[in-house]
Amino acid sequence: MEWEAFLEQLASGQQLLQASFSNPRRKDNGTARKLTIRPIKLKDGLGFQCERIDLNKAYHENITPHELNDKLKFEMSQYKQALFKTEEADVQVLSNKKGALTLLMHTPTMKANDAMQEHNRSKAYVLPEGDPVPFLIELGVMSADGRVLKAKYDKFRQINRFLEMVSDVLADLPKDKELTVVDFGCGKSYLTFALYHLLAIKERIPVRIIGLDLKKDVIETCAQLAKQLKWDKLSFAVGDISDYKGHDEVDLVVTLHACDTATDAALLKAIHWNASVILSVPCCQHELFRQISQPALKPLLKHGLLKERFTALVTDAARANLLEIAGYRTQLLEFIDLEHTPKNMLIRAVRGSGSASNTEQVKQEYEAFKSWLNISPFMEQGIKL
Ligand SMILES: C[S@@+](CC[C@H](N)C(=O)[O-])C[C@H]1O[C@@H](n2cnc3c(N)ncnc32)[C@H](O)[C@@H]1O
Repeated sequence: MEWEAFLEQLASGQQLLQASFSNPRRKDNGTARKLTIRPIKLKDGLGFQCERIDLNKAYHENITPHELNDKLKFEMSQYKQALFKTEEADVQVLSNKKGALTLLMHTPTMKANDAMQEHNRSKAYVLPEGDPVPFLIELGVMSADGRVLKAKYDKFRQINRFLEMVSDVLADLPKDKELTVVDFGCGKSYLTFALYHLLAIKERIPVRIIGLDLKKDVIETCAQLAKQLKWDKLSFAVGDISDYKGHDEVDLVVTLHACDTATDAALLKAIHWNASVILSVPCCQHELFRQISQPALKPLLKHGLLKERFTALVTDAARANLLEIAGYRTQLLEFIDLEHTPKNMLIRAVRGSGSASNTEQVKQEYEAFKSWLNISPFMEQGIKL
């Protein structure tokens, strides 16, 4: 097929699902290293988003279907190769030194639904891309005009996934008072700031949030940013989770990626406060690695890597069951895609259990589980079994 004929087909309705251009003719910084064009739903109907990737940054521009063919023609003159995906075929276009084009037809690899999926995902984001948010700009996740920096895309996705999960439990938080939220092991506090943005700014819920971490310098930086943003109900403190005595009542406890038994210490604090909601993403788990033993599991436990993964699962199972015994409805959810991090399990616990007989049954099952594996988790210390 000829290039002009292909463009005509696109103009006469054959849907372009994705076009990616690579290998720019100019090696100076006049042309992006890579350009991808894909369909998106805009307010006025279908449009196309052009994403230029250069020096690890992504730049976006939207165009109308009317502008598409001129755009494709121009960009094809700037690159030595391109791949166009339609439902009928994948069309590879190679351009020689003189600019003559060769089109190679391949079996299609994309469906119309796949093309829209990415856009729909971004549409569902609590913090959509393209909408500048001051704290994300200050934390270096977004540029001043709301574009997400390429290197921070995983963080942006993580923040949005976390906010989605918080949004799901807003109805379970008290309504008649100022909420108190503690984020244990807040670190650089991307998620603490995100939480404040969602609750205090977006939802206009009266709330105070406290971030706690062992690292003094990190806490100072976070406190400085809260001050700069004039978020006076967001504060930070240096300290160890186990020793924290800042409040008598806490409604929401967050603990994300706090190491080893620091997660358990945070969960015990939350239970002690009778917090309405607990959100916890455990991190590395070493405690049970040293304890676990069960002859029937020798084929698995003799491999260090399998033992490590297995004990991480056992630890989280123990935590989830102990939370149920303590009176929480508990779910284990996938936090973000496994491809981004192995630490992707979120424990979401909402106060208000089932019946007493159900709790009794969970206790019995838990006792059998721990005795079979010869484990005695740290978290049991604060729970009546
Ligand atoms: C991997 S970072 C996670 C930061 C943040 N929560 C997140 O998910 O992006 C873990 C943080 O937990 C803090 N931490 C670990 N043990 C702690 C403890 N016992 N008390 C307070 N902070 C702790 C560390 O200093 C570190 O900043």
